[in-house]
Amino acid sequence: MNSADVHLREITDDNRDAVRALRVRRDQKQFVASVSHSLKEAAKKPETRPWYRAVYCGDEPAGFVMLSWRPPAGRYEGRHFIWRFLVDKRYQGLGIGRRALTQVADLVRADGATELLTSYQPGDGEPWPFYRKFGFEPTGEIDDGEIVLRLAFTAR
Ligand SMILES: CC(C)(COP(=O)(O)OP(=O)(O)OC[C@H]1O[C@@H](n2cnc3c(N)ncnc32)[C@H](O)[C@@H]1OP(=O)(O)O)[C@@H](O)C(=O)NCCC(=O)NCCS
Repeated sequence: MNSADVHLREITDDNRDAVRALRVRRDQKQFVASVSHSLKEAAKKPETRPWYRAVYCGDEPAGFVMLSWRPPAGRYEGRHFIWRFLVDKRYQGLGIGRRALTQVADLVRADGATELLTSYQPGDGEPWPFYRKFGFEPTGEIDDGEIVLRLAFTAR
């Protein structure tokens, strides 16, 4: 496995089961819903404009990311919000999450956005250090008990 070869792929009939089989550690389940649950939620809530991809490392599915992509209404109206993000427990700590997030941020920036948002549930093993190292900052808002974070894109 070469962790430098990280890329995003669409989820189709050919890889859906493999992506749904991805798992975080038991102690991390408090921070993120499963891929199956997320895909069901996406199907049920088209108004949130769900956008999702599998994270691949070479030819192996290693993670999953889902955004609310410029929803037409609601708290994140017109913005890009990372709703789910996970790297399978077998692949964590290898730089895959950072590489995948870099690619997501590039796509969001290419969509003309000036920022990328997410939120996390505080607790032991929370993903805050991961997002902080990436450049996210708290906005000061709390959304349903979750701390809202923002990555501001600087002009290139
Ligand atoms: C958060 C997550 C996606 C990060 O993916 P990853 O591939 O393990 O992250 P990387 O290997 O790219 O790590 C990048 C940096 O963040 C750090 N980091 C990653 N996850 C961390 C965590 N939970 N706590 C502290 N530091 C963390 C790494 O140590 C690394 O730091 P370094 O650059 O100083 O070495 C992954 O740990 C995960 O799926 N966690 C469970 C689900 C979750 O919390 N998702 C976020 C929901 S909002």
